[in-house]
Amino acid sequence: MKKTVLVSGGAGFIGSHVTVELCQAGYDVVIADNMSNCDETNYKGVCAILGRQLPFEKVDFCDVAATKALFAKYHIDALIHFAAFKAVGESVEQPLMYYKNNLDSFLNVLEEARIHGANVLFSSSATVYGEPDQTPVTETSPRKPATSPYGNTKQICEDFLRDCVQAYGMHGIALRYFNPIGAHPSALIGELPRGIPNNLVPFITQTAIGKRECLNIFGDDYPTPDGTCLRDYIDITDLAKAHVCAVTRMLEGKMDEPYEIFNVGTGRPVSVLELVNSFERVNGIKLNYRIAPRRPGDVTAVWADPTLARKKLGWKAVRSVDETLASAWAWEKRLAEAAK
Ligand code: UD1
Repeated sequence: MKKTVLVSGGAGFIGSHVTVELCQAGYDVVIADNMSNCDETNYKGVCAILGRQLPFEKVDFCDVAATKALFAKYHIDALIHFAAFKAVGESVEQPLMYYKNNLDSFLNVLEEARIHGANVLFSSSATVYGEPDQTPVTETSPRKPATSPYGNTKQICEDFLRDCVQAYGMHGIALRYFNPIGAHPSALIGELPRGIPNNLVPFITQTAIGKRECLNIFGDDYPTPDGTCLRDYIDITDLAKAHVCAVTRMLEGKMDEPYEIFNVGTGRPVSVLELVNSFERVNGIKLNYRIAPRRPGDVTAVWADPTLARKKLGWKAVRSVDETLASAWAWEKRLAEAAK
């Protein structure tokens, strides 16, 4: 019997890529999204890649009754929870909006997962490590006090899951993503930032296509080899495959502990300047950029030790930064074509 996975936030950037990989691995997927931060582009792209329509439910997980109805309608074996707000700066300006949305929605799905015996995969973030004392970070590296309400919601939701697993005999996994970038090789799904992008790669591609005049590189006086920050940029398709491994681990009863945490990164630090230079070289583009002041809240360097995921999930990142940056550019060009 095929197992069914509910993907909350499944019309978004990460959710859409995960849906494709789950379906291609033989799972049935129900996509649920309130469409508050995306349009139908990625949902349509997912259906085009798979060559069939997928069940889609417009649900806001802050709505208790709607969440209950969804779990009553489908037999959900596992839930992957992406439905959340994710802009760091906005969370500082509107903490209540972030706490209400990100915490309420997760509490509601946890309650239904408990009632219906569904396994839970939570999409966490390397932001929980803050400015680490040592790099690369392992899953046992200390979590640092969050520097934004967004980061705090990731820490709190990890704790919600840990405590529910312990109290109710549930099973759960938190995946801590480093910096997901790129787009599906088909260029049919990708990142669709609203307004001015906060993240580096969408800002690069929008500058290259002419939507933005100039990329600001936030600081070149960090204590790193070239003075710009170091991050672990992980290809979105590689990242999506880690979810398939994690869901399978839960559903096949292969977990060592009922609550597990895995870093999802490459283990490869890349500086902002290196990333910009790679983008230019791979795509044959000269990017307009300048050095700007540091962005408040940025950490100097963080990258993953991905050993645990390799050993326990049997997963590792395989795509090169070059391939990923080519996919990001192909996606931006496709969006420009579609807008004509
Ligand atoms: C941030 C969040 C992370 C979240 C991720 C995806 C924190 C501390 N970080 O990661 O939790 O999961 O976004 O939403 O909460 N940069 C520029 N110019 C730009 C944009 C970025 O130079 O226009 C630099 C930044 O200074 C940073 C690097 O690029 O060094 C990556 O930035 P970004 O893509 O925003 O990701 P993070 O801040 O690492």
